[in-house]
Amino acid sequence: MKLASRLAHIEPFHVMEVAKAASQIARSPACADSPMIFLNIGEPDFTAPAPVQRAAERALAAGRTQYTDATGLPELRKRIARWYGERFGLDVAPGRIVVTAGASAALQLACLALVDRGDEVLLPDPSYPCNRHFVAAAEGVPVLLPASAEERFQLSAAGVEAAWGARTRGVLLASPSNPTGTSIAPDEMARIAAVVRARGGFTLVDEIYLGLSFDERYGHSALAHGVGHGDDVISINSLSKYFSMTGWRLGWLVLPEALVPAVEKLAQNLYICASSLAQQAALACFEPESIAEYEQRRAQFRARRDFLVPALNSLGLSVPVQPDGAFYAWADCSAHATSSWGFCFEMMHRAHVAITPGRDFGPHRGEQFIRLSYASSMEQLQLAVDRLRSALPVGSLVGQHVDLR
Ligand SMILES: Cc1ncc(COP(=O)(O)O)c(C=O)c1O
Repeated sequence: MKLASRLAHIEPFHVMEVAKAASQIARSPACADSPMIFLNIGEPDFTAPAPVQRAAERALAAGRTQYTDATGLPELRKRIARWYGERFGLDVAPGRIVVTAGASAALQLACLALVDRGDEVLLPDPSYPCNRHFVAAAEGVPVLLPASAEERFQLSAAGVEAAWGARTRGVLLASPSNPTGTSIAPDEMARIAAVVRARGGFTLVDEIYLGLSFDERYGHSALAHGVGHGDDVISINSLSKYFSMTGWRLGWLVLPEALVPAVEKLAQNLYICASSLAQQAALACFEPESIAEYEQRRAQFRARRDFLVPALNSLGLSVPVQPDGAFYAWADCSAHATSSWGFCFEMMHRAHVAITPGRDFGPHRGEQFIRLSYASSMEQLQLAVDRLRSALPVGSLVGQHVDLR
């Protein structure tokens, strides 16, 4: 069967190969006495808190399982809008919020609504691989701009200005970022939004990790930097990470009002609505008991970061920029290996620690960097660091080809 040509622009998810190998090794006799520690996982090790589970049970028992509006339950849109006021001091009208099947659907809708065939969209390298593929699936052209540690691995206004060409339509940023856990400083975000605005483009900001910010200097929504309370900046968010609801598949977009009908039309046709059970459960995310639990979890993520990052630095896996959010550390493994891909397989076999190589996040320095997730318990992180320490005589792998595939 002939595949559509757009498939040629969607690269395979290499990380899945690493995850598959890690699971295989984990099941092998070699791991019987020292089970694999999975630091390659991009989801919280917490599940939805009790009020959310109870709300789902109530909705199920009452048979409230019909379709909702394509834009989401009106109560949930209102509750999310209120959250922006409570948490960020932002005035967001509920009518600007569209509830989606995860940030993934939100990104897909935004790209389908804004990107035409051949339109270019600027993204940083490194960045979450699916984001460039959402652009490619809309037949746009993702343009990856190498982002340095000095720029917190993010785009700068000057970089956007320099790279803007005749076919450029906008930027797709993520703050805090996956894989680096670093955010764009608010003043830089304001400058980027201004550069894009002056060119009539769109500023699309994936803020899926915004709830998991650990540094007051960075924990601000880009919506604060649009004209008229963020009316020309689009924010994408999710119930997956801060709200610990990955498999429930729920997220949202905050859109300029004028864009809502276009996105609504797409959502109606593409998937009708996000899961109604998940939406009703999500209403309970904003109850004080749930928020207290989420805040306690955020503190745990922060404590894990404060343990892991110095530990990695002491192992010669240097983390050039302190992550200010999410649950990832982006570490340079070039003191140990010439290929991060080989390094990860080596550590998987020798230390039984699964780590993600940089390859998927962009070609710029993907062979130099690895991503470690600290969405694992402190005990697991401590054990992982001990094992890496034993497996890593500093400098021993430099210059060797350690690709064990
Ligand atoms: C930066 C980023 N954006 C979007 C997503 C998609 O999240 P979801 O569809 O679960 O909301 C992820 C998932 O890991 C992510 O890391």
